[in-house]
Amino acid sequence: MSSAIYPSLKGRKVLITGGGSGIGAGLVQAFVRQGANVHFIDLVDEVSATIDTGVLGSAPVYHLCDLTDTPKLEALLHAIQAEGPVSILLNNAARDDRHSLSEITSEFFDKNIAVNLKHMLMCARIVAPGMKALGGGAIVNFGSISWHLGLPDLTLYETAKAGIEGMTRALARELGRDNIRVTTIIPGNVKTPRQMKWYTPEGEAEIVNSQCLDGRIEPQHVASLALFLASDDAALCTGHGYWIDAGWR
Ligand SMILES: NC(=O)c1ccc[n+]([C@@H]2O[C@H](COP(=O)([O-])OP(=O)(O)OC[C@H]3O[C@@H](n4cnc5c(N)ncnc54)[C@H](O)[C@@H]3O)[C@@H](O)[C@H]2O)c1
Repeated sequence: MSSAIYPSLKGRKVLITGGGSGIGAGLVQAFVRQGANVHFIDLVDEVSATIDTGVLGSAPVYHLCDLTDTPKLEALLHAIQAEGPVSILLNNAARDDRHSLSEITSEFFDKNIAVNLKHMLMCARIVAPGMKALGGGAIVNFGSISWHLGLPDLTLYETAKAGIEGMTRALARELGRDNIRVTTIIPGNVKTPRQMKWYTPEGEAEIVNSQCLDGRIEPQHVASLALFLASDDAALCTGHGYWIDAGWR
């Protein structure tokens, strides 16, 4: 399959959270291939070695930071911005740890919302003024089909993911006059190394059976949608969620 090249992405400064593995690693590769200036944040060691960006584009810059450590995150974002404003923010990092209602202590609630929601708002808050100075920008938040389906054992994750769609609408309104577009990507089940820990061949077959289309969604399919939403080709797209779920229902 040949993929689109978006001329407007060339040279753009792109910040991707959770770019060390899964969909995030797919995003890093896809934006590097567009000739973008890619920065990504993660907390896994030796992550750069696992990202194959091929021969195209310049090497992405990896920043080791726990996104739930807000003071450290804010300092890092200011340092990244000091070398030039971020033009595109991909709020991708999350943790879909399984849990039951009885396991949700006050501390667990705070930790789960911190990793699944809070950093997205913090990143948007800090990069927005730079985007405004550039004359515009794009923020792409990563939601999930899970709360639309009401999947089991993910109460806080689904609560955060529902919040992300609300946050997207609010920020799109607040930042729209600065030509900053804010969207949500809503993936179905995407085949990543972490997801494969949970799925048996029978479980995967069940997912495909619930989709309209055959085949499993892979990170590069999600990255294709992200490239479009981040590019100037999506100039009037804002405030909404865009699904990539192969028609799962
Ligand atoms: N894979 C799916 O099926 C699926 C489905 C729906 C939505 N999504 C959403 O897509 C996005 C990416 O999902 P994924 O499956 O690639 O996830 P993943 O767990 O495979 O990767 C997430 C990355 O974020 C990093 N990360 C997590 N917590 C962090 C922290 N505190 N600080 C810094 N980095 C941190 C992890 O190290 C990892 O590299 C998430 O927002 C997820 O909710 C995924």
